[in-house]
Parts: sequence; structure tokens; C-alpha cells
Amino acid sequence: QPAGPVLAIESSCDETACAILSPDGTCLAQRVVSQDGHADFGGVVPEIAARAHLALLPGLVQATLQDAGMDATDLAFIAASTGPGLIGGLIVGTSFAKGLALALNIPFVAVNHVEAHALTARLPGIVPGGAPFPYLLLLVSGGHCQCIAVEGVGRYRKLGGTIDDAAGEAFDKVAKMIGLGWPGGPAVEKLARQGNPDAIALPRPLLHRPGCDFSFSGLKTAIAQKLAPFGSSALPHQFAADLAASFQQAVADVVADRINHALDMMPQAHLLVAAGGVAANTTLRARLEAVAQQRGLRFAAPPLKLCTDNAVMVGWAALETWRENAERGLPPLNNTTLRPRPRW
Ligand code: KG4
Ligand code: ZN
Repeated sequence: QPAGPVLAIESSCDETACAILSPDGTCLAQRVVSQDGHADFGGVVPEIAARAHLALLPGLVQATLQDAGMDATDLAFIAASTGPGLIGGLIVGTSFAKGLALALNIPFVAVNHVEAHALTARLPGIVPGGAPFPYLLLLVSGGHCQCIAVEGVGRYRKLGGTIDDAAGEAFDKVAKMIGLGWPGGPAVEKLARQGNPDAIALPRPLLHRPGCDFSFSGLKTAIAQKLAPFGSSALPHQFAADLAASFQQAVADVVADRINHALDMMPQAHLLVAAGGVAANTTLRARLEAVAQQRGLRFAAPPLKLCTDNAVMVGWAALETWRENAERGLPPLNNTTLRPRPRW
């Protein structure tokens, strides 16, 4: 274990986040700022995000240290997401973390953002009974949509992923087409509660196909066709609600099928973990839980604030990597020469 707490920074998309974890993974303080200024554009604008990270980070780090009742000189090392993600934000967060580490003369540890999502389930107290390796991770957010076999620290196999849009992206685009705000996922879910999920026939892309890849663009096109007859006139409320419910059902059907295939590809898994913003969707969660139950597996989804982008997961991934490294008798981590990688 490191000799003191870790300070972690997350800046790969539009959340600016900082957390401090004790060597055993206990969260001592954490702050997340979900940037505003993107909603007017209907999506994250990379340039705005990068500038906002730059403006927010110094104050956020100071405030998080204060929350933890700590001075920067108490830290053992600093970690940051260095990819994948939007390059501007990654450069800001990585440079900030490296600079701080250099000034304090402590190591800097680079963290893969997807790895951080993958290891979140292993944070103490998150999954009842713990999350021993191996387990299957379904990562579904605005930027990611993949099935990952999590076999150990640093040992991941991507079993399948989206061949076009991410699941969250599909929710966001459909929300926009129906005339709902951004982010679209929560708005679609809310509207769907008033609709009939069997009312409108929609395709189930890749259903029953081999493997566990995803595709959502055909679904999006089908919805555009259902909307075409209305032109620019307002949608009848019930039709919009039925469409939202039918779309959500189609996504849940496809994801349940894909996860069944992924579990066939990973018979050694005893646990199914869902993470990412879309994992907040109650219909989807219920379906995943049912799949797990049918197969005699445990199901877990970390609480929402750890499912979406945060710095606690970054600190935890760094601690796991640190420990793994020490167990293998390797020299202490210090990735100062590592550069941010938008595609990692
Ligand atoms: O993990 P996340 O906060 O950010 C990244 O993508 O990095 O995920 C955000 C995505 C958005 O596309 C949002 O529309 C979707 O998750 N989302 C949902 C729900 N809540 C958030 N999608 C479906 N149902 C929800 N309840
Ligand atoms: Zn993420």
C-alpha cells in the first residue's frame, strides 16, 4: 500500500472531478462539477469542456483537500485519467496532475478511464459480498458501449462493443428528435413511463446475432421514419410517450440479448456489473437483473454517482494498479512521461 492518500483527477469529458482516497480505498472527500454551457449545443463541446476544466480544477482541488482536512503535502501520489476521452480535457487534467506531483516531489500515476469504470465495482462496500475477478462489465454511457471481461487488474478483454452509436448517444439523439432536452436519457425514461412499450414496432438491431456487438443507428433511423409524417408540427403527447417507451423497450431487448451472448463467451463469470450513465435506466437495470437471475449470477450496478464520471474511480484504479505493481515486485509507479491518449 502507498504510504498516504491519493489525490485523483477526472477531466476526460464534461465532468470536472477530484477525489482523495486513503490507501485502503476509503473516500475521504470528493467533488464533481457537471459543467453547464453544453446543453444549448445539444451535446458536449470539446473546446468549452477543456476551458471549463482549466478554470475549475485549481479551486476544485483546493476545496477537496479542505473537505478532507488535508494539506497537499500529506499526499502519497497523484492520479489522473489520461485517456480515452476528449483530448483538450485530458491535457488539462494530466498536466495539472503532473505539475502538482512534480511540485510536491511525489509520483504521478496515469489511469485509463475505462479501466477506472471497470474496477469501480471493487471499491470497498459497493457490491455486497465483494466483486472478485472475473466478472462481466457492461459499460453503457454517452461515450462508451461495450462488454468487457474483467479478469484481473490490467487484464481486460473486450468481448464486444458498438459498431456505431453508444447507447447513451442513441438516447440523446432520440430525445432530441422527440423534442426533449439534453441529456436525453433521463427525459426519455420519464416520458416512457406514460407510454405503451408495445405500441410502436421498432427494429432490434443485431438481436440473436453471434457475438455481443451493439448497433443503435438503425433504431434511430426507424424512429426518424415514425416521426416524418408529423413534419415540423408538434407531436401528440401520447404518441411521443409511446415512442419513448417503445424505444426504451427495444434498447432493453437488444442489451439483454447481447449480455446473454457475452455471458456465453465468459462462462467463468459469477457476477454481472453494469456501469455508465445509461445503467441508471430502471427498465434496463430490471432486464439485466433478470438475465443474471436466470443464469444464477449476481448482478450489481454501482450507485449512480459512481456509475457516471467521477474521480473516486480514478483514485481506486490507481490504488489497485499500485498494489498489483508492488505485488509483482516492480518499481513504484511514476508515469511522468506518459502522454494523454484520446483513443486508448
Ligand atoms: O456516464 P455518463 O454520465 O457520461 C459519459 O457518457 O461519459 O453517461 C451519460 C449518458 C447520456 O447519454 C445520458 O443520456 C445517459 O447516460 N443517461 C441515461 C439515463 N441517465 C443518463 N440513459 C437512459 N436512461 C437514463 N435514466
Ligand atoms: Zn466515463
